[in-house]
Amino acid sequence: MAVRYLVTSALPYANGPLHLGHLAGAYLPADTYVRFLRMRGEDVIYVCGTDEHGVPITITAEKQGRTPREVVDEYHETIHREFEAFGISFDNFSRTSLPTHHEFAQKVFLDLLGKDLIVERTMSQLFCPRCSRFLPDRYVNGTCPKCGAPGARGDLCESCGSWLEALELAEPTCSICGETPSPRDTTHWFLRLDAFSDWLREWLPAREGWRDNVLNYCRGWLDEGLQERAITRDIDWGVPVPLPEAAGKVLYVWFEALLGYVSSTRELFEKRGNPDEWLNWWKSPDTRLIHFIGKDNIVFHAIIEPAILRGLGGFALPWNIPANEFLNISGQKQSTSRGTAVWMGEYLKRFPPDPMRYTLSINAPEGRDSDFTWAEFRVRNNELADVLGNFVNRTMSFAFREFGGTVPESGAPGERETALTEAALAAGRSIGDLLGSFRFKAACAEAMALAREGNRYFDSSEPWRTARTSRDDCARTIRFSLEFIGWLRLVFSPFLPFSCEKMGRMLGVSGGSWDGIGKVSLVTGSRLGAPEILFEKLPEGFEEDGHANGPVESAPAASEILAAARIPFDDFKRLDLRVGRILSAEPVPKADKLLAMSVDVGEPSPRTIVAGLRQWYKPEEMAGRLVVVVTNLEPARIRGVESDGMVLASDGESGVFVIGPDPSARPGDKVR
Ligand code: 2FM
Ligand code: ZN
Repeated sequence: MAVRYLVTSALPYANGPLHLGHLAGAYLPADTYVRFLRMRGEDVIYVCGTDEHGVPITITAEKQGRTPREVVDEYHETIHREFEAFGISFDNFSRTSLPTHHEFAQKVFLDLLGKDLIVERTMSQLFCPRCSRFLPDRYVNGTCPKCGAPGARGDLCESCGSWLEALELAEPTCSICGETPSPRDTTHWFLRLDAFSDWLREWLPAREGWRDNVLNYCRGWLDEGLQERAITRDIDWGVPVPLPEAAGKVLYVWFEALLGYVSSTRELFEKRGNPDEWLNWWKSPDTRLIHFIGKDNIVFHAIIEPAILRGLGGFALPWNIPANEFLNISGQKQSTSRGTAVWMGEYLKRFPPDPMRYTLSINAPEGRDSDFTWAEFRVRNNELADVLGNFVNRTMSFAFREFGGTVPESGAPGERETALTEAALAAGRSIGDLLGSFRFKAACAEAMALAREGNRYFDSSEPWRTARTSRDDCARTIRFSLEFIGWLRLVFSPFLPFSCEKMGRMLGVSGGSWDGIGKVSLVTGSRLGAPEILFEKLPEGFEEDGHANGPVESAPAASEILAAARIPFDDFKRLDLRVGRILSAEPVPKADKLLAMSVDVGEPSPRTIVAGLRQWYKPEEMAGRLVVVVTNLEPARIRGVESDGMVLASDGESGVFVIGPDPSARPGDKVR
């Protein structure tokens, strides 16, 4: 059988809405990956669902005065809806509270019990005298025994990431009533992780292409020595332990949630009317099982799950686990209590999904934590508008203005077209390799670099000039630019599915395979769809007012313009305004708003001009632009750079844009 890809994202707890950190960690990269695999024609399924049991759910329910059922029903819906709105394209989004999952998890428990890989033990557990119950996991707060941080929970210390047992905490308190609990004996069932120690020591280091963070983390675990771990709990919400003597006990949420990936696959094929097909995925040597997770889930996916699956026998083991680090917000961990989290649902009320998909992909927390700021979001959003949106927009405008909204006939490609086709083919290969090796950040940056090439091609082909001088040349440029939009649509599809759908509508195409990048596909004479705006630019400062929802400072009203003091014509004549061509631009060190540009104004040597354009333009976008320059201002020293002149720009509600003369003008021409 050919290779098949079984892709999963961590099952989110159905106890609250999800924030951007969740999206960036386990869902967006997985979705990007599966979209790419589907375009490559691979056999792939992508499964997930909500994690609906365990202490995280019961504590939320108790705090909200609701039943666990009410909590999970609400958040399953919310989470599912928001994922769909972000375009996360699961083949199945299940729930661990479904009977089919309960049955499967119980079967696995009994299978491992029969193999002595699960054993019964009497153990000490913290018991709260006031609540009269045992306190598993997060029902206990205390001080972390590993790093000494206060506020550790009975299952995990968020400061150092250690997976804990409640009994290990110093100064424990009951998280419901604050009472100090004391240990009491109870019976539980334990997974014999120690029995897998030797095998894991061989298996893990032999994994190829796994990220360092995953392998290093596992090495630490193996060095500490694997112990038996309790996989049952004394609570009444969860998958009941399927033994008569275990009344009132449920399976530990992590033990059964990991099996949720299998249950979701089973549910998928039940829905498709082929209930046994899941076996061809989970029990095939040709399956590549890939778990997308955040770094706090590494131990469960790289140690516990492989142990369970190996214990069951015949199951596919993880082929890769591309665990991401965390996404912080303005330098801080996303936290509900501090109000620093950005909720997916809140974001979607204000903006379309693609600009955030782009921002989080190009700034992905791969290898190390990354930081999200609204200023970065604006820059990335505007980059989409200026580069990709602009290319599509200018091409479509020409196609409608000059060729009646149809794909023009064009002669043989010239040198420029051939070079750009080569660039697209190379980018398709390279982005494909990067996506295939889970390097989403680099892949996304390369896609944008290709879009920039498109703009450079357009600029250097000057269709505004050839429209008047050579219709054939103009037709070739526009025809080729339309083909290029088709290739950009393919390259960006995994990252920006909604915008790429619009691009498809404009070109009159749909679907498409990765192999189509660099290949001619449009039909001469076919009608184009109506031009659509892909991205709206965001003004500077939008983020300073309650996350972009406040009013934007507006340009002066016409009445204010009329009231401004008048000047005599002679005053205006004192200005020497010239056409200039920007030769190059670079950021001014330690000044985040400034660009230093080398500008040809028709003199023997170019001038250096510093301008506050850096938030609006990337340096590489400036080269080649025609601008209007005030050439007779006194030179000024700006941040250590001598600036000799001023570049005119509009400054309004929609942003800052340099004023560009008609492309036929030449450097040094007078502006009056
Ligand atoms: O950390 C979490 O949000 C867990 N609910 C992830 C579970 S992943 C898997 F086990 F299902
Ligand atoms: Zn208590």
